[in-house]
Amino acid sequence: MAERVAMISGANRGIGAAIAAHLAERGWRLSLGMRKPQGLTAPPGGSATLVSHYDAEDIASEAAWTEATVQRFGRIDAVIANAGVMIPKTVIEADDEDLGLLFQVNVRSPLRLVRAAWPWLVRSGRGRVVTLVSLSGKRVKSARSGLYAMSKFAALAMTHAIRHAGWDQGVRATAICPGFVATDMAISLADRAPEDMTQPGDVARLVGMLLDLPNTASVAEIPINSTLEEMV
Ligand SMILES: NC(=O)c1ccc[n+]([C@@H]2O[C@H](COP(=O)([O-])OP(=O)(O)OC[C@H]3O[C@@H](n4cnc5c(N)ncnc54)[C@H](OP(=O)(O)O)[C@@H]3O)[C@@H](O)[C@H]2O)c1
Repeated sequence: MAERVAMISGANRGIGAAIAAHLAERGWRLSLGMRKPQGLTAPPGGSATLVSHYDAEDIASEAAWTEATVQRFGRIDAVIANAGVMIPKTVIEADDEDLGLLFQVNVRSPLRLVRAAWPWLVRSGRGRVVTLVSLSGKRVKSARSGLYAMSKFAALAMTHAIRHAGWDQGVRATAICPGFVATDMAISLADRAPEDMTQPGDVARLVGMLLDLPNTASVAEIPINSTLEEMV
């Protein structure tokens, strides 16, 4: 099979960087989207990797990044919608601007990105969409995760909706739903040591597996946790 091409948003740090490193090791060709591409001087995959500008708050950037990817590689086989933000405010404290930002970055931009890449995902015959959702897309655990949870519930529904929309064309979509993962996002919020959280590299290994599974082994959601909760 020709080397497949994956687009990964927010690939400069955290979970996105771990996914990029893992997919490069597995022979994927990479198109990495981030707000400051000039900051990534040694991308996984070396000079074969495309590093592009992508800002979820700029509604033109999904199409521009997709176009640059097609120009470079002539194909897109997977979109990993990873970039995301968390605003630790309760739904009462937060204002419309906070809510707008969370939905723009966590929901609307990933959908625009998938739409832009759609013809190429279909052409692949085994297109893949992986969304970094959260366990906050499945339950509201605390007051200050409530606003974030609203956006992640929407991201979970979006991923299922993409799974339905692409099924007949061979596109498979999966929502990865982690609890705390040891990145800047969780370390700034949680009262537990990074080594007691899920590691970004382990999330990356799940992504690698999802991309390799055939169309006949679709996985809709993967909840993943470092602590025991009632259901997850
Ligand atoms: N860490 C966790 O515990 C956890 C748990 C469940 C789900 N998640 C989800 O996993 C994904 C990755 O999170 P992470 O833990 O790796 O967080 P992180 O370390 O805070 O990294 C967030 C990434 O998103 C990017 N980003 C934020 N706003 C953006 C924007 N407007 N345009 C483009 N990129 C933007 C950041 O870019 P900059 O470097 O430019 O800021 C960075 O690359 C997110 O969707 C998050 O909600 C994380």
